[in-house]
Amino acid sequence: MDTMRSEMEKDILKILVTEEQLKTRVAEMGEELYEKFQGKKPLFLGVLKGSFVFMTDLVRACQLKSDVEFIAVSSYGNATASSGRVKINHDLQQDITGRHLIIVEDILDSGNTLAFLKQYFLTKGAASITIVTLLDKPARRTKAITADLSGFTVPDEFVVGYGLDYAQMYRNIPYIGVLKPEVYAGT
Ligand code: IMP
Ligand code: MG
Repeated sequence: MDTMRSEMEKDILKILVTEEQLKTRVAEMGEELYEKFQGKKPLFLGVLKGSFVFMTDLVRACQLKSDVEFIAVSSYGNATASSGRVKINHDLQQDITGRHLIIVEDILDSGNTLAFLKQYFLTKGAASITIVTLLDKPARRTKAITADLSGFTVPDEFVVGYGLDYAQMYRNIPYIGVLKPEVYAGT
């Protein structure tokens, strides 16, 4: 990383989770899911867009017979606090009746998104739902929802990188960092 050029670096206040820590933890998470779902052919269901980087690493860390699906939702606009409403921008492309779902999220914040999705997938007939989130920010939870498997607990700060964005940017930063507040001041 030292030698890699990044024009986004100057917007990062501090690094919360390094590339190395991400790699180690995602490998552990894949192993845990392997143990849990052996012989079950689960469906990894990524919540776009934030989960796309985590999803690609997680499915490769879990060598099960499985398939992948995506749903795209939004609740945020460009602000840094949830509007409380969840909108489906891209729906499931397959029948999930009777499937064991592994929902893959970037971060569990207020819980609005996952509370909505869990209910939605149950009405679509999922056999079981396992919530996997890379990051958990429990300080801001307003819905009674917990992850079955979480990578890291983070403090109440706005984070970007490894898929997480601010105003659709910074998703390609390879670590999890805290954005300098002046970057989003005034939004
Ligand atoms: P929730 O519905 O409030 O739990 O938030 C879920 C979504 O908000 C996540 O999937 C993220 O896309 C976004 N989000 C929440 N906190 C952050 C953050 O600190 N950085 C970037 N995105 C966030
Ligand atoms: Mg998201």
